[in-house]
Amino acid sequence: LITSSDYDKKAAGEKSVDFIEDGMTIGLGSGSTVYWMMKKLSQKVEQGFQVKGIPSSQRTERWAKELHIPLTNFHEVQTLDLSIDGADEIDPHLNLLKGGGGSLVREKIVNTASHYVVIIGEKPKLVSHLGNTAVPVEILPFGWEMTANYISHFGCTPILRQKDGDTFISDNGNYIVDCAFEPISNPKALHDQLKGLVGVVETGLFVNLADTVVISEDQTINIL
Ligand code: A5P
Repeated sequence: LITSSDYDKKAAGEKSVDFIEDGMTIGLGSGSTVYWMMKKLSQKVEQGFQVKGIPSSQRTERWAKELHIPLTNFHEVQTLDLSIDGADEIDPHLNLLKGGGGSLVREKIVNTASHYVVIIGEKPKLVSHLGNTAVPVEILPFGWEMTANYISHFGCTPILRQKDGDTFISDNGNYIVDCAFEPISNPKALHDQLKGLVGVVETGLFVNLADTVVISEDQTINIL
């Protein structure tokens, strides 16, 4: 069953390919919206467009290989021209909540290495304040109970993410706890507090990283 949100993911993903220029190195984000961007990009590659991508997850890497999008890595390049990535929530300052798919650490590394970051998504992802959904926090497996306990002091009950009845393991071999806070008034402050805890690898709060947002509503595109 294809929903209207799927059509909007496709529309936003495809539109974002306009930002990619011949010869660019690009960060390939993660998630279903990014898939549509990559599918469209693969057509341009087939027509002779030269790009090299760094994938932000193992799943994205698999897609890139299937779609014949050439890949590179951080041994070969120090910075990326552009990244295109999805998000779970986007606030009016273009701060993001990410990590629904569990790829937040690599996504943040790839986005941070990029001169320009384009976020793609459908309209319901625009929120007045981040925190309608739980904040994913990647933590080390060792002593995770302690780390989760420290996190809980900031006003949430961390839930250890599960997948198919087992503990979810990130591409980096870590755990993720999903932390439902009240609407977040200061994402930077919350990120800094969480990041300061021993055992925390990274948070899904992306502050000051996005440059532009491509939003689709009923397949009409808005660029913020
Ligand atoms: C992956 O960890 C996430 O940050 C994704 O970018 C986010 O969940 C968006 O995914 P969809 O494009 O599938 O909605």
